[in-house]
Amino acid sequence: MIKINLPFFRKDIGIDLGTANTLIYVRGQGLVVNEPSIVAFNNRLNRVVAIGREAKKMLNRTPSHISAVRPLANGVISDFEMTQEMVKRFLKMIAPQMLGYARVVVGVPTNLTEVERKSVEDAVMGSGAASVYLIAQPMAAALGANLDISEPNAKMIIDIGGGTTDIAVISLDGLVRANRLKIAGDKFDEDIIRFMRDEFKLVIGEPTAEEIKIAVGSVLPRGEKLEIAARGRDLATGLPREIIVKDSQIRLALQRSIRSIIDATKEVIENTPPELVGDIYRNGIYLCGGGSLLRGIDELLNKETSVAVKVVDDPLTCVLRGTGLVADNFDHYKGLLDILSGKAIV
Ligand SMILES: Nc1ncnc2c1ncn2[C@@H]1O[C@H](COP(=O)(O)OP(=O)(O)OP(=O)(O)O)[C@@H](O)[C@H]1O
Ligand SMILES: [Mg+2]
Repeated sequence: MIKINLPFFRKDIGIDLGTANTLIYVRGQGLVVNEPSIVAFNNRLNRVVAIGREAKKMLNRTPSHISAVRPLANGVISDFEMTQEMVKRFLKMIAPQMLGYARVVVGVPTNLTEVERKSVEDAVMGSGAASVYLIAQPMAAALGANLDISEPNAKMIIDIGGGTTDIAVISLDGLVRANRLKIAGDKFDEDIIRFMRDEFKLVIGEPTAEEIKIAVGSVLPRGEKLEIAARGRDLATGLPREIIVKDSQIRLALQRSIRSIIDATKEVIENTPPELVGDIYRNGIYLCGGGSLLRGIDELLNKETSVAVKVVDDPLTCVLRGTGLVADNFDHYKGLLDILSGKAIV
């Protein structure tokens, strides 16, 4: 009988299954998938026609028999079958023959219900993995930012993603405080859509709103004035119209959502034991996730909390880098994982 040396074959995998983007890390290979979490489905043929970037191009542009859907909402799976299909196809892009041996580490938001956790686990197991382990996204983000979370010295990390803002205080390899808001990048886009309709009587779609946010979005007035031309449908005439949108207008549109994030951050600090608040003051607050790229958000949080705020390097891949570290050093980090179930590895 041939004896197979399993660890040699094994390619442990890290996944950041985000509302906006799915990223996959393979041990020994690094980042291999970085695609929007979007699936395009042909209702006539009853099959998936595109995923990721290809599907994103179709968002809001599909004929009636094709629907481009985002199967996750607010960090959790809202369409199980589509999520599973998406994960399956992403995993297929990378060494599928190895998958049966792979331990897959998935970053999930904090404070999920049992059903929500199970659903992530099932979606990944259904893609053919040998076993699935979950890690809290803020914990993964902290690892990804190279913070030492094992020492008795608290770190505060805020992950402003697409669907959720996860605010966590981490010490001694555990979550001391965690709060999750359903206000993040997607909500900012919705705010912009509403603002454009109310103020300009212009109807725009999600992709245009995101484009405006990235091009001119800010939370504090800045030296340079920014503007962008936005096209949509005039609410009154029903015809196409173009307007110029300024950064100051987008600041107004985002005001309430940003306020909620600041208030929630303050609430977490208020509920953190005083010694740890001292640590946070010394260490600063770390920001990650795509929402942390919104101009001035670090400065505003600093003003509001009197704590230094740093946006981590490459904030969009921070959680994935953390899950990747776990995939690379599984035994070292396994204490951080919430083991739910899994096929036994012999
Ligand atoms: N330069 C930028 N300025 C502002 N927002 C940005 C920028 N780049 C990306 N974003 C926003 O970041 C969000 C995606 O971030 P990220 O990939 O961290 O989310 P996610 O991990 O998929 O979602 P979640 O963690 O909530 O499940 C989107 O809403 C996107 O519009
Ligand atoms: Mg995320």
